[in-house]
Amino acid sequence: MKTEPTRIAIIYATAQGSTRDIAEFIGAELTECGATVELSDFEHAPELSRFDGIILGSAVHNRDFLPAATAFIRTHRAELRRSDVWMFSVGLGPALRGPIGRRVGNTVPKKIAALCETVSPWDYRPFAGHYERVGVSWQARTIYRLLGGARYGDLRNWHAIRTWSTMVAQSLGLANAKAANIHA
Ligand SMILES: Cc1cc2nc3c(=O)[nH]c(=O)nc-3n(C[C@H](O)[C@H](O)[C@H](O)COP(=O)(O)O)c2cc1C
Repeated sequence: MKTEPTRIAIIYATAQGSTRDIAEFIGAELTECGATVELSDFEHAPELSRFDGIILGSAVHNRDFLPAATAFIRTHRAELRRSDVWMFSVGLGPALRGPIGRRVGNTVPKKIAALCETVSPWDYRPFAGHYERVGVSWQARTIYRLLGGARYGDLRNWHAIRTWSTMVAQSLGLANAKAANIHA
């Protein structure tokens, strides 16, 4: 019988911090479920073979993962492919509304789809992030509005993130995963 706690690495790429917050939240959820979690950015990623599960997350810029995430995934693709991996992204897709917005939001950008194919994760989940009006060009604001982006600021859906964390916990067979589900 396995007595060691399940070890999970959560590795993230962020430009403005919202992806790191989400990675920390997922880490706290999985710790509550009984796992031992190590959290780091891609630049300080741990040696992967020590882990039972690996979660990779990145902010989306220009319909792609951030360069640090892409580089890491490409370099470690063989090892990642042999591991139990889950992936998430943080962008605007899930915050888009209306028929066109939803269609665009539900389409995985080509470069991200190609990265997912490289790794074959158990699941890939896009989460809404944080988008401030200040500093965004009028062209980008217009496109966002046309695609049904109704508001700016913190668009993160913590319930969706918690539900996904619970799903990962259950997939990993974590002892307290069911309890986490009840509180979701
Ligand atoms: C320069 C820039 C480009 C972006 N490009 C995209 C994009 O192509 N698709 C998308 O869904 N979100 C895009 N976003 C929105 C970010 O992904 C979102 O704000 C996210 O929360 C950023 O995560 P972070 O706070 O971890 O950096 C972009 C944001 C910036 C600042």
